[in-house]
Amino acid sequence: MSMKDVVRWLRDEHDNTHEIAARLRSTAVKPPRGNRSIWVEQLRSGFDDFAACVRQNISAEENGGYLQPILDIQPALAPQVDLLRHEHEELVHMIDNVQRAVHQLAPTDNLLLRDCCKRIESLLSWHERHAEHENHIVLYVLSKAAPEVARMTQPTRQHDTSDERLQAP
Ligand SMILES: [Fe+2]
Repeated sequence: MSMKDVVRWLRDEHDNTHEIAARLRSTAVKPPRGNRSIWVEQLRSGFDDFAACVRQNISAEENGGYLQPILDIQPALAPQVDLLRHEHEELVHMIDNVQRAVHQLAPTDNLLLRDCCKRIESLLSWHERHAEHENHIVLYVLSKAAPEVARMTQPTRQHDTSDERLQAP
């Protein structure tokens, strides 16, 4: 995959996941007071979409994605890439657990339902943190290897080389 393809892929992946995550968050943020049958179905469907999207992204990142090219360009980032790979396993583990809980929910549940919503919110936050870290590392490597390609991404936050996560061990 060329550097330009990596950047385009990152941008598309981010936009798509962001949209699905935002929809799920808006459903989970507040269960309705009345009949919750439809809402529980929406929560399940929204969670299944998010789970499928993240599993697919992780698989793509691990197989032919940009993790190996990062190491090829910047071998000193091996500990950071190992951490990202480990977080992939953790995210899939959390997704499996929450998906099971969401599918066991009954519309009459009150505490379990609220517990599920909190777990979804927590999972979305961990996923955002992971994606931010991942994008940060990719942009850092791109800025070293191909500055003209890195500028295509128009990052929302200023690149910060003092970030301790980017320091070689
Ligand atoms: Fe990732």
